[in-house]
Amino acid sequence: DWKMQDVMEEEIKVIKDMVGPDDHVICALSGGVDSAVAATLVHRAIGDRLHCIFVDNGLLRYKERERVMSTFQSDLHLPVTCVDASDQFLTKLKGVVDPEVKRKIIGKEFINIFDDFAHKLEQKLGERPGFLVQGTLYPDVIESCPPPGSGKTHSHTIKSHHNVGGLPKDMKLKLIEPLKLLFKDEVRQLGRILNVPEAFVKRHPFPGPGLAVRVLGDVTEGNALDILRQVDEIFIQSIKDAGLYDSIWQAFAVFLPVRTVGVQGDQRTHSYVVALRAVTSEDGMTADWYYFEHKFLDDVARKICNSVRGVNRVVQDITSKPPSTIEWE
Ligand code: XMP
Repeated sequence: DWKMQDVMEEEIKVIKDMVGPDDHVICALSGGVDSAVAATLVHRAIGDRLHCIFVDNGLLRYKERERVMSTFQSDLHLPVTCVDASDQFLTKLKGVVDPEVKRKIIGKEFINIFDDFAHKLEQKLGERPGFLVQGTLYPDVIESCPPPGSGKTHSHTIKSHHNVGGLPKDMKLKLIEPLKLLFKDEVRQLGRILNVPEAFVKRHPFPGPGLAVRVLGDVTEGNALDILRQVDEIFIQSIKDAGLYDSIWQAFAVFLPVRTVGVQGDQRTHSYVVALRAVTSEDGMTADWYYFEHKFLDDVARKICNSVRGVNRVVQDITSKPPSTIEWE
């Protein structure tokens, strides 16, 4: 792909010029394609003056930390430190139910952690890193801060994506956003050119605030996160086994803090409801709900209720975007 080859060479040049020969750069890896591609680009440009951080915020999916760390280290050879900040995030989120407040808290904690990482790096290197890489895409920019002339005002902002425009003024890191003008399919092409493994390139997008926007309400309530991880893993694995993963833009489960009556064995149960969401999309800006065969849904629902304790009902989300958004919060 010539266009992407050009984009890659141009970006590497821009990054080299921007950073200069001695400066150090920090990159926050989310586990998604975007930040991994952004980091790989910067790594090509400046080598090991790049220092990546992967934050376990306690809002990751089933075995996600182990899985992505292995890809970063063994396949992408990125210099990456893993920080376990689960307690820190979950403590701050305790009792918080408003989606926007949840997003803001998470964004703020991320920034605190990056800042801390930068300070520690400064002590180690004897100089402070000057830049922060982020895998912001064009749709993120449009949705968080409508461009002038788009006819949208600030009140049209749909959700505050934690990775756009959230940096405090006193933070001395300059931003590098090499994917800012690209759509998701272009980032995937760029990833292929950069030898990012195909399975990773094709990974469905995952939001920065993680499972916090998929556990409705208080994420620390009961074992909601644990239940969601199990349900999500069954759903995704079933999609992969059925050969459907690559036809779907994004698929995931949502935990609803709602209990309904069921009957399992001879027992009356009063357990949680989970929702399954799968959509097709070109760029995440609009989306259509994905049509599964009856048999597939039947198998998944049975498997979930039979193997996940605390769930006795499974529903499917059959709304498109608009009027819904892809995530539930
Ligand atoms: P919505 O839910 O707004 O999502 O239709 C559109 C796409 O963006 C992802 N998403 C996020 N990505 N930080 C991100 O990096 C965020 O805060 C965030 N919120 C939503 C969502 O998964 C979908 O692909």
